[in-house]
Amino acid sequence: MSLYTGLAFFIVICSGFYLFCKKKYSYWKNKGVKGPTPLPIVGNFLKAFLQKEALYNSVQDIYFSYTNEKLIGVYRGFEPAIIIRDPELIKNVLIKDSYLFQDRGVSTTTGALTDNLFASNGEKWKIMRQKLTPVFTSKKLKDMVPVIQQCVQRFIEYVDHLVDNNIEHELKALTSKYTLEVIGSCAFGLDLNTFTDEENVFNHMATCIFTRNWITRAIVVLDMIIPGLIYQIETRKDIRDFFVNLVHKVIEDRKEKPSDRKDFMDLMIEMREEGKLTRKLEHGVSEIEINDYMIACQAFVFYAAGFETSAATMSFLLYELAINSDIQERTYKDICQAMEKYNGEINYDSIKEMNYLEMVVSETLRKYTVVGVLFRKAMSSYTFPGTNVTIPKGMTVMISASGSTKNPEYFPNPQKFNPDNFLPENIQRRPPCVHLPFGEGPRNCIGMRFAKVQSMLGTATFLKNFKVEPSAKTELELKFNPKTVVIQSINGLWIKISRRK
Ligand code: HEM
Repeated sequence: MSLYTGLAFFIVICSGFYLFCKKKYSYWKNKGVKGPTPLPIVGNFLKAFLQKEALYNSVQDIYFSYTNEKLIGVYRGFEPAIIIRDPELIKNVLIKDSYLFQDRGVSTTTGALTDNLFASNGEKWKIMRQKLTPVFTSKKLKDMVPVIQQCVQRFIEYVDHLVDNNIEHELKALTSKYTLEVIGSCAFGLDLNTFTDEENVFNHMATCIFTRNWITRAIVVLDMIIPGLIYQIETRKDIRDFFVNLVHKVIEDRKEKPSDRKDFMDLMIEMREEGKLTRKLEHGVSEIEINDYMIACQAFVFYAAGFETSAATMSFLLYELAINSDIQERTYKDICQAMEKYNGEINYDSIKEMNYLEMVVSETLRKYTVVGVLFRKAMSSYTFPGTNVTIPKGMTVMISASGSTKNPEYFPNPQKFNPDNFLPENIQRRPPCVHLPFGEGPRNCIGMRFAKVQSMLGTATFLKNFKVEPSAKTELELKFNPKTVVIQSINGLWIKISRRK
């Protein structure tokens, strides 16, 4: 090829690519929807692609750059997607018109375990959600409380031993041990010994799931450009094998029959005995098969969705109490008052009366929204009520859960940790759907009540026994790790713990 032919070829390729990008990236302009200017290939999420910034941060920045817009048009790679800002429109998508936005449409890097409740779509999700909901009824939760209390006891004994030997403590490492112990006991009926076993294999799994290596990072980047790619590649065989083997072992130990623990595994074994799960439809029934692999998928998601999120929340809560001693004292008094009414006990009934502690939990989830972006996928073309914007079937819809909780319009002085934001009169003043730590509507967090009960039992017992204070290593300006899925401080959350006299 001569130099001229080569040059001509190069120009043709570049012009073709330019025209292709121009067409792709004029989608929102043609619809009259405002949004940031995209870059070729990566669209509006360069920093997220390069893992210089977490995705929730990029979405939050865009949320705050278009304060007058109800809807913002963006591009994930070449794919147009939409960010909803307006609380009424958010309510429509998550609640009122939720049947049109039933799928989440997210990809995960865990390969074959994607048949789980979080990632599955359509009829499969509907049946699983219906059958798994009974795991989290009030009665089931109440039954699980004694098991959680045993974990709390081990947690308190562990901290008691620690305070004699150490001056400073990293909170996330501490609370992770507790939430791991709880999920191990409640979901799998296993005593994981997280407090004594530093090399715990479950802990190692969490690192595998939540910290991406360069291969999974590259695949995540490519998946944004070629959506669905992740589903074609089984990236983490070790994670899959671990959960499949775990499920086999628990089922074998229980001799393939439900035990009297009535935990998650019992419910799954009951479903396995039925063989197929069915759901009545208007015309006929739909069904899915329940085998050990399907159980492993659900076991994986309960572990993955439950453990890290709850540990992060508890660690940020204790960190804020360490640097806000007045709020800590008010919380302590609230705990003591509720205990007085229940023979000095911290149990399912007394935590229900700890109103201030509950406000502290909500405020923690506001300031540190551990899941910062909510996703939905349009199941058909949809016109947002009161606008002339119509999106086609299949488009991804994003909601900046971390953005609306930092919006001074809804939460005055949003950087201040202020549990009074959750006084009934202040909640009433706000529009709906601006505080969404657990999502909303039929696809919200199935473990929400479980998460609250385990955090409140653990935190109340901890604060009854110990006091937290800043230490020399405590950072007042936290920097967050852009590479983790759940929000995490880069340098850890260091504090001093002492016994209450
Ligand atoms: C503080 C703790 C937790 C937080 C902040 C949290 C947050 C969330 C959020 C934001 C979603 C997405 C909701 C949506 O799209 O509307 C979600 C979904 C989910 N969470 Fe949680 N979660 C927590 C604890 C748990 C626990 C303890 C479990 C299980 C034991 C759990 C299991 C799940 C599952 C299975 C889903 C997917 C539900 C579905 O798609 O039907 N989560 N969670």
